[in-house]
Amino acid sequence: MDLPTLQPFFEDKPELLQEILDRYPLGGRRSALMPLMWEVQRAERHVSEARLHEIADIVGVTATEAKGVMSFYSTFHEHPVGRFHLQVCRTLSCKLAGGDELYRALVAETGLVSGETDAAGTFSLQNVECLGSCGTGPVLQVNDTYHERVTRTRLAELLAEMRAGHEPAPTRERGGDNVSAQKAARAEPAAEPAAGGPAEGPADAPADAPGGSSDEEGGAA
Ligand code: FES
Repeated sequence: MDLPTLQPFFEDKPELLQEILDRYPLGGRRSALMPLMWEVQRAERHVSEARLHEIADIVGVTATEAKGVMSFYSTFHEHPVGRFHLQVCRTLSCKLAGGDELYRALVAETGLVSGETDAAGTFSLQNVECLGSCGTGPVLQVNDTYHERVTRTRLAELLAEMRAGHEPAPTRERGGDNVSAQKAARAEPAAEPAAGGPAEGPADAPADAPGGSSDEEGGAA
């Protein structure tokens, strides 16, 4: 297979490479596979075939073995993702809390479906399995940051920040154990009961509902 000729990623990062390899005992270099892939992805937004071969050589496994590890984790991307990689949990708890509506709202807003990246490289969208925050669904992960109980209003805020080029600050919603000044200060009308629907979550105002049902304006200031 012809691979593009490019400078090896770790060629000018010997200290970083050594620091990662030193985390593991001699003979256990293959354990560095994922940390090395992570470094590449963090810099290049994906792990290309060429980088995968480089990493496989470093840790002493075949490229096929390395690819087997990489393909197991949705965290790693074979193709470049957007500057803002949007991951929507599609597992049951989030579904019940409005995960499908959240996904459809993102499809409508970005024009993407799961697995796609926009032409400008700004957004990419991915449906993923449980993100481990099941009590605070629906969960949207933007790059490495969780956003929980994402209502339509909150989604509009997040998208506005990203379109302005900013990575949204993390917010934590812990379903009652830290109902906080933060939440009060934000004064989001998320708890506004929607007729026949759940009290919170984007189910109260999905963007896939043309005309936007009853809370169209939603306070998205
Ligand atoms: S079900 Fe969505 S985070 Fe677990």
